[in-house]
Amino acid sequence: MRLSVKNLLRSTVAQEFVELSAWVRTKRDSKAFSFIELNDGSCLKGIQVIIDAGIPGSEQVGKMVTGASVKVKGCLVESPGEGQSWEVRASEVELLGGVAEDFPLQKKGHTPEFLRSIAHLRPRTNLYGAVFRMRSRLAYAVHRFFNERDFTYVHTPIITASDCEGAGEMFRVTTNEGGKAEDDFFGKKSYLTVSGQLEGETFACALSNIYTFGPTFRAENSHTTRHASEFWMIEPEMAFCNLEGDMDLAEEFIQFLVRDVLEKNEGDLEVFQKFIDKGLRQRLEGLASGGFERMSYTEAVSRLVASGRKFDYPVEWGMNLQSEHERYLCEEVVKGPLTVYDYPKSIKPFYMRANDDGKTVTAMDVLVPGVGEIIGGSQREERYDLLKAAMEQHELNIENYGWYLDLRKYGTVPHSGFGAGFERLLMYVTGMQNIRDVIPFSRTPGSCNF
Ligand code: 4AD
Ligand code: MG
Repeated sequence: MRLSVKNLLRSTVAQEFVELSAWVRTKRDSKAFSFIELNDGSCLKGIQVIIDAGIPGSEQVGKMVTGASVKVKGCLVESPGEGQSWEVRASEVELLGGVAEDFPLQKKGHTPEFLRSIAHLRPRTNLYGAVFRMRSRLAYAVHRFFNERDFTYVHTPIITASDCEGAGEMFRVTTNEGGKAEDDFFGKKSYLTVSGQLEGETFACALSNIYTFGPTFRAENSHTTRHASEFWMIEPEMAFCNLEGDMDLAEEFIQFLVRDVLEKNEGDLEVFQKFIDKGLRQRLEGLASGGFERMSYTEAVSRLVASGRKFDYPVEWGMNLQSEHERYLCEEVVKGPLTVYDYPKSIKPFYMRANDDGKTVTAMDVLVPGVGEIIGGSQREERYDLLKAAMEQHELNIENYGWYLDLRKYGTVPHSGFGAGFERLLMYVTGMQNIRDVIPFSRTPGSCNF
């Protein structure tokens, strides 16, 4: 049976017969034998294989160079080498696939930009292997978090006719380009979803605590290191829950994920710590054991103004906080994670619950050092008349949203939820600086390769 490199390295005893298949990372030759280091992506480390000259298949050893795929049979023995517990002494080797001379991953130290241009090969590097194993573990931890709290996982649709965020930044879905909407596939205009929230609310108003976790699309022309046109979002929605409870869950969620990463990173965290961010572990440990500061938007604005600092976007009450402001608030003002709540009504979507002051809504954003906004959420407007008025004010086509208003007609309840950007979470726990480097194949304005 084929064993993964991870399983071989974890072995507690020597084994007389093992079989493995993997790719060559490095090779060293001497007269009597060759050393190859094999990696199959199951873990960060590779395993060393000793190929004695003359064993079956050894005549191919010249082709077992970096990038080639190889099958090995042999025995697992304790390694005399330092820092390595086990190695394989081969009795038989087979070259599965040789490698053309132009294999681009010869040397170490490629730039992230170059590696993005070979996104089909970059998971074979130590760094990106670690990123994508981390991504997989983090997704699992997300499901565990909600499962342990009895949230029901709901698959909200990807194709939709409604614009949740009301910003009009949607990709159109059509089979009738240039034709009339009534003649189109669905008999009306349809889009890729910007959020599963509205559909999620319908399920929360039946099953109480639900969450979605799926791909999300935004046709916004943002050329930043934190925006992607296709990203994954986690959206819990809770009936009988106010903004306070929403913020509690959001903070608990991030803390849970960070603790999980600290416990179960299987050595991958070392790579980020060493090559990406020397302060990473300390930052994560701080968040895992410490609390979140909370501050109203109004206070945040006065703290920014009082700082006397010159920002690219001057600060005034009513403005949307920019990334520079968000980062200043958590990196300089509170020196840690920060939840900002009660934002001006005028800069937020139609569905947020109006506060009694007539100026703000029950919105909240969770900001973290290094990344800025990682979560955005709110208590939803559950009062029929107020919601309808807000929809009219935002010039929504009420006919399209009749089902959404119905929730407020039939047993309406206070309810709240949030959206967490999965890639932003991943940037936070890896220290990776660009969203393009934590998603397998990034889609950004002007770029849809692979
Ligand atoms: O703040 P946003 O736009 O909120 C919503 O979509 C709500 N409907 C969520 C809800 O209440 N259910 O997006 C939520 C999060 C942001 O905080 C950010 O982390 C991430 O989604 N996000 C993006 N991530 C990558 N690329 C983009 N273009 C993103 N836009 C939002
Ligand atoms: Mg937001």
